[in-house]
Amino acid sequence: MLILGIESSCDDTAAAVLRDGRQVLSSVLSSQDQIHSRFGGVVPELASRNHLENITPIVQSALETAGCGLENIDLIAATQGPGLIGSLLVGFSYAKALSFQAGIPFIGVDHMAGHLLAVFLESDVTFPYVALIASGGTSSIFLVKSHTEFQHLGRTRDDAAGEAFDKVAKLLQLPYPGGPHVSKMADAGNGQAIAFPRAWLDEDSLDFSFSGVKTAVLNHCHRERQSDSALQIEDICASFQEAVIEVLVEKTARAATLHNVDTIVLGGGVSSNLRLRQAFSDRCHKDGRTLHVPRPAYCTDNGAMIALAGYYKYHQFGEMHHGEDVYSRSVL
Ligand code: KG4
Repeated sequence: MLILGIESSCDDTAAAVLRDGRQVLSSVLSSQDQIHSRFGGVVPELASRNHLENITPIVQSALETAGCGLENIDLIAATQGPGLIGSLLVGFSYAKALSFQAGIPFIGVDHMAGHLLAVFLESDVTFPYVALIASGGTSSIFLVKSHTEFQHLGRTRDDAAGEAFDKVAKLLQLPYPGGPHVSKMADAGNGQAIAFPRAWLDEDSLDFSFSGVKTAVLNHCHRERQSDSALQIEDICASFQEAVIEVLVEKTARAATLHNVDTIVLGGGVSSNLRLRQAFSDRCHKDGRTLHVPRPAYCTDNGAMIALAGYYKYHQFGEMHHGEDVYSRSVL
């Protein structure tokens, strides 16, 4: 079975072709980082206009790279949410129009399901597992019970982890997207230099809050500037990064303990952060747990994870609603 996956929830236009929900035949992406960089964040209107320009060439490129045509595709999967509504509408409507025109079954896929299952593009993982998805739009912990059953255990109450990285980068006048730049600076700094706060929230809470640490960085910069001290940008980045990572690691490990799970999976753009990967690896080693982290191209938004999630949802959907029209039941 060949599945075409289309993703356009934020600022990346992505498409991929998968064989049997597993073998990636192609995965192509057009990033809008350059367009949004001068604004220091994603501008929704620009994002959707850009998706409109990119969606046809990206889908064509995915098909060509996979060595097939639309006539060979057995299922089209597209992200149905969550995300920026204008961006989502471009990929979702495009996918539905393709499926209608070519008579190919269609299925709408939750963006988070894509991130939660992306690990299967490379590894075999046994259920259940606890997954941390940390990106520019979310910091969430899930208990993943099967390819189609996900229990949301914790979420961000304000800024997502990646958003905090981006905002700290902006106030330090580093380029957008800020995460990679902050982490590069942090490599040359001392993570213990400044005691930025960790928001643990209520004792048993698996929720996150990163707006406090971001404000603490802002206040620290104000104080340093007022006292005419030169900003130690590397130390600020390293100390901020440590504060965020410590909370992400601790709460994810706590979720695994609470649910008696011995496998942890990471996803989302922030999991490209090498220090975060190392901290999780150390913690899992200490706790006797297995860690799976997809390669960076599958951690960030991509079409392959949407095709994969669509494949499993379609199979479960077909079994549960045998004979029903998947196409008409998959609208947002
Ligand atoms: O998953 P993603 O590509 O897109 C969504 O936000 O959905 O994640 C992008 C986010 C941005 O906030 C970016 O700054 C952050 O991931 N990011 C990083 C790193 N690489 C990307 N954050 C920290 N360290 C990194 N190395």
